[in-house]
Amino acid sequence: MSEKDFYIEAFDNLPALADNSESVKEKFAHVFYDFLQLSHLYDSAIEVVKTYLGILDNEFSVKFQRNPIHNIESRLKSPQSIIGKLQKKDLPITTEAARKNLLDLAGIRVTCYYITDIYAIVEMLSRRDDFTVIKRKDYIKNPKPSGYRSYHMILNVPVYLSSHKEYAPVEIQIRTMAMDFWASLEHQLKYKTSSDIPHEISEELKECAERIAQTDLQMQNIYMQIKDME
Ligand code: GTP
Ligand code: MG
Repeated sequence: MSEKDFYIEAFDNLPALADNSESVKEKFAHVFYDFLQLSHLYDSAIEVVKTYLGILDNEFSVKFQRNPIHNIESRLKSPQSIIGKLQKKDLPITTEAARKNLLDLAGIRVTCYYITDIYAIVEMLSRRDDFTVIKRKDYIKNPKPSGYRSYHMILNVPVYLSSHKEYAPVEIQIRTMAMDFWASLEHQLKYKTSSDIPHEISEELKECAERIAQTDLQMQNIYMQIKDME
């Protein structure tokens, strides 16, 4: 389906457009304005977390002459994937349903150098009393069946707007460069093939994930030994 057809079909399903009390133009303006506000709130929540991560990274380099964070990426879920996910969950296509049910509209991916850096960042994010941890999943201690490893947290983050404070959930994925290397390639491979990946290949990918995890531990060990020599 083309992107245009996708939106046409999605908009056909909008409850706001189905009732006749408002002109289509007004209804469209409503939907559009709602979405703009949502984007602004979630974008701001991403900025709040990114600013804090930047402060932590700088503090580390002052205290320990080393940065724990290699890279930070962030994204807002696109309207197309928001609509797709709402449809998959059999939910109405409204910004309200998206806010209530989708906790990964705002996403941040933090790539660290060592496994211990991940837990240090998790600890610092958890300790902030104005961030509430809604959900956390440790796919490092408990890798996914695919072999996927990362630490996931969903934080409820306050955003101070001109007249009031609002909260928005932000999904944070924290991983080492090695975990990111595997996840990026595996994701790309999965999307390249329209059909399911054959079992043997999935097993091979999992084997790679395990070997990479082994290397991560080994590098961590080397780092500890060098640090002890200082
Ligand atoms: P979603 O509905 O996909 O968000 O699932 P969920 O709410 O159960 O979240 P989950 O903890 O599974 O994490 C979802 C996100 O983690 C995905 O959007 C990916 O970015 C990442 N992820 C999870 N599993 C895998 C995997 O097997 N391979 C890769 N490459 N990424 C994964
Ligand atoms: Mg997701």
